[in-house]
Amino acid sequence: ASLRASLVPKLEEKQVFSNQNQPQASYKVAILGAAGGIGQPLGLLIKMSPLVSALHLYDITNVKVVAADLSHCNTPTQVLDFTGPSELANCLKGADVVVIPAGIPRKPGVTFDDLFDINAGIVKTLVEAVADNCPDAFILIISNPLNSTVPIAAEVLKQQGVYNPKKLFGVTTLDVVRANTFVAQKKQLKLIDVDVPVIGGHAGITILPLLSKTRPVVPFRDEEVEELTVRIQNAGTEVVEAKAGAGSATLSMAYAAARFVESSLRALDGDGDVYECTFVQSELTELPFFASRVKLGRKGVEAFISSDLEGLTNFELKALETLKPELKASIEKGVAFVHKTT
Ligand code: NAD
Ligand code: LMR
Repeated sequence: ASLRASLVPKLEEKQVFSNQNQPQASYKVAILGAAGGIGQPLGLLIKMSPLVSALHLYDITNVKVVAADLSHCNTPTQVLDFTGPSELANCLKGADVVVIPAGIPRKPGVTFDDLFDINAGIVKTLVEAVADNCPDAFILIISNPLNSTVPIAAEVLKQQGVYNPKKLFGVTTLDVVRANTFVAQKKQLKLIDVDVPVIGGHAGITILPLLSKTRPVVPFRDEEVEELTVRIQNAGTEVVEAKAGAGSATLSMAYAAARFVESSLRALDGDGDVYECTFVQSELTELPFFASRVKLGRKGVEAFISSDLEGLTNFELKALETLKPELKASIEKGVAFVHKTT
């Protein structure tokens, strides 16, 4: 059921029952890049979670304003703000989950790779601080290009001797959220029932929705598969173009990230039924990092759902082989960046 339930009913359900003598979990979540387009609505959604006792907001600018505003919501989560590198360590100490949406977004005509020059350094510096202050936390990377920033984070953690591949996640939940929405619309299904695993990476053709594995089982015509796959792969660009220079997806991304944060917290809290697609260190293919469905537990990734990759259609098999060279190059670029700059 956890695969299908949407985030908002889950939050409401928990809020409604939160006064009924249930033991309340109390996790500390830090958002790095908290004053940005994603960071602000993500902060709001996390402030609504009964699983969170402390929400630490970090940014290089404007974060006091965001914390002042959020802190007036009458949910129990305590909100604290931290500005600039001198306050980063205090933001991170004791964090159970660190979410990183810091960095610049795309504009029309800008590729994911164009973001690398600025965002690679931002992610490297922030993950160094995570390694120093809360190396056991679940680390959730949102900053693009995700196919490179997750390998960057892994190399930094390795260099600091604290890399735990089970606890480093690239957040690809937005691809699943979009796939579920578009498939439900196309096939006139009840949204809450639809679940489409999305594998590969998080940029253009590296995003591969496995429509043949859609639940509930639903037949697709070849043209539908092609049309839906391309729409899901280009959905980020759809929003970038709609925003016409004002950035990329923020609200749907905050929704997707909040779902992944909530799943991480339920896993930490001992829920034995938590599954999400995410870009992680993986042995499912010959690539060192790969997005797939995983089971999450207290220690992070507990199992890879390898059955998703069995019995793929010819279309999916071909798309999988086509995405590998691009994904491999992006991963290698991330790894090389860390070795070049140290
Ligand atoms: P934004 O520009 O609105 O916000 C980014 C925030 O990061 C800003 O508040 C900025 O001050 C902050 N920041 C910059 N450098 C920092 C540093 N060194 N330390 C802390 N904070 C710093 O951008 P956004 O729309 O929120 O997007 C953020 C990132 O998320 C982009 O790279 C974007 O491409 C990516 N993104 C990823 C997904 C995904 O599915 N993984 C989806 C949407 C966007
Ligand atoms: C998205 O999928 O919306 C993000 O990765 C942002 C973008 O630039 O596409």
